[in-house]
Amino acid sequence: MEMTPYQLANNTPLTLSPNFILPEDKRPNLSEVLPSDSIPIIDLNDHDIDDGQGPSPLVSKISQACEEYGFFQIINHEVPRELCQKVLAVVTEFFQLPPEERAQYLTKDHSKQVKVFNYYQKYEGIGKVTMWSETFSHPWHPTENFTHLLPTNPPQYREVFAEYARAIGVLFDRLLSLISRGLGLDKDCLKRRIGEKPGLHTIANYYPACPDPELTMGLPDHNDLGSIAVLLQVEGVTGLQVIKDGKWLTVDPVPDAFVINLADQTQVLSNGKFKSIGHRAVTKKLLPRLSLGMLYTPSEDAVIGPIEDLINEEHFPKYRNYIFKEYMEEFYWQEGKRRRVPIYGYY
Ligand code: OGA
Ligand code: NI
Repeated sequence: MEMTPYQLANNTPLTLSPNFILPEDKRPNLSEVLPSDSIPIIDLNDHDIDDGQGPSPLVSKISQACEEYGFFQIINHEVPRELCQKVLAVVTEFFQLPPEERAQYLTKDHSKQVKVFNYYQKYEGIGKVTMWSETFSHPWHPTENFTHLLPTNPPQYREVFAEYARAIGVLFDRLLSLISRGLGLDKDCLKRRIGEKPGLHTIANYYPACPDPELTMGLPDHNDLGSIAVLLQVEGVTGLQVIKDGKWLTVDPVPDAFVINLADQTQVLSNGKFKSIGHRAVTKKLLPRLSLGMLYTPSEDAVIGPIEDLINEEHFPKYRNYIFKEYMEEFYWQEGKRRRVPIYGYY
């Protein structure tokens, strides 16, 4: 019997049904993945005063990570450990509820604020292949607009989540300003360009233990489409991988760290100086894995294009300007091909 995706978390089958099996050339090839001691781990307590000669040591490290990897981890970020553990616990509990409880959120309508869904890919000649994961998505700010739509089971979900969202809001402001300074811009520049009404969404991905991680994928190779993401992973379970120079690297969960990844719009705003890097999530045979991503996406009406101060005689614009909404439309149009949107043509 074919398992409906949202039954996965509670009812892991012993063998993969065909709808989860990827064509051979799309499989993860796990034996070729390298451990990554190379993704920078940045201590936010590092010295952060510009000395008039150039950026502070902290800003330099961040901008180097953004240029080389588009990914880094941060420690000493001031979000309390207990709060991170509490939020991972309530989200895990949500995924472990009986599937009927989560079914109320199940939808294919991407405009729904609060939703449970599954990623899939479409392949020529094969059709849909379902990914080995379940995703729960909802906004994280402004809380008064959606808290009433969040789960009441587990009972602490709303309260714990609201506290976590407040802390992450503060962290985002700090990160955006560090990244702006890393581009040599004033600290408010990126936030201003992302617009007045950013899309602030949570993406919780649950990857049940999988009978055969070589045949399927938790999340296919993709780039994030917004501007920046703060990801919390459970300790001790790997799964996230990023591509660097054509090789997949594992992003090891570091205790008390967040993974920060830049998304497409930051690459465009920085005129290609900072990178949005391809990444994917693979599954594990014995352990389920949870990741909790907090996303920061431009306003629909934001004009995205290389920031003018970065353009001069030596640095021509690499991208054209576009309204972010157009980009999103292109993204949804490419349904099932989680994708690289070619809308921002290079000149
Ligand atoms: C994502 C993502 C990584 C993970 O949701 O876009 O890349 O480890 N998640 O779940
Ligand atoms: Ni992603």
